[in-house]
Amino acid sequence: MSNDSIIEAWNTVLFDKFIRFQHILVDGLSSHSNTLLERNIHHKGSRVLDVGCGFGDTTLKLADMIGRNGKAVGVDCASKFIRAAEAGKAELGLQNANFVVADVQCDDLQGPYDYVFSRFGTMFFNLPGIAMKNIHSSLKASGRLDMIVWRKREENPWIYDAELKVKEIVPVVSHEETDQVHCGPGPFSMAGADMVSGMLKSAGFERISFERNDAEICVGKNLEEAVSFAMELGPAGEIIRLAGENGENLRGTVRSALTETLGKYSRNDGVWAPSSTWFISATK
Ligand SMILES: C[S@@+](CC[C@H](N)C(=O)[O-])C[C@H]1O[C@@H](n2cnc3c(N)ncnc32)[C@H](O)[C@@H]1O
Repeated sequence: MSNDSIIEAWNTVLFDKFIRFQHILVDGLSSHSNTLLERNIHHKGSRVLDVGCGFGDTTLKLADMIGRNGKAVGVDCASKFIRAAEAGKAELGLQNANFVVADVQCDDLQGPYDYVFSRFGTMFFNLPGIAMKNIHSSLKASGRLDMIVWRKREENPWIYDAELKVKEIVPVVSHEETDQVHCGPGPFSMAGADMVSGMLKSAGFERISFERNDAEICVGKNLEEAVSFAMELGPAGEIIRLAGENGENLRGTVRSALTETLGKYSRNDGVWAPSSTWFISATK
């Protein structure tokens, strides 16, 4: 199954939207990754891989933690994200970080690594079992994988309530019904612990564990920004985009509806909503 259209989506429409909301994404998502990375489970001098690294902020954090004798490699299938990550590296002057364009489903990940990390970078593979086998092959014996993925939709209401509301207004066009590029399986594709542990087991991983992590995250500095964010990214944004002209014409109605839906999270210091992830760990 070709991954070309998913890669094109991450390199074009999705990249443009991620750049627009980079400040919300990096700060909000870091609430989850900082909790995990600050446990200091990686050793000085180790080789680490960051899967689906996006802007590379977690790769750079890892590079800083493992010290100059270590090596942190961030891989992403979208060359535009890799270019943005390289710019971030140049700004910080970290010499032990490298960024590489690679499709985790089929490309050489330049291992072997002591540790593989991913923050929300493993949920969009159209062949996740094959990608997990490739990640497994890139690890040294006894190497560890830590990935952060969203838990179920109902525990992430800032995404799910917006999706439900948009579905009431905009007719849903499935991936099969459109030739527009799309992100792949989507943010909740790894929410099911049974399914994911089975996949990791089949890929060769052992000692698989799931830890729930809850965090309130800021999804906009004000309600207007939170609504714009929901209308561009996540399942709600994708429904509007894939609906084409229909979606465009309904934007005004969607904006009023989402202002009400997300209004309950609005405070003086921004829009703060509950969110919930799995910290999934596994060993080779
Ligand atoms: C939701 S973003 C997460 C980015 C970053 N890890 C973060 O937390 O900000 C998902 C990332 O996975 C990348 N991605 C999707 N499919 C991929 C694949 N097959 N191989 C490598 N990267 C992939 C996308 O380009 C995107 O940068």
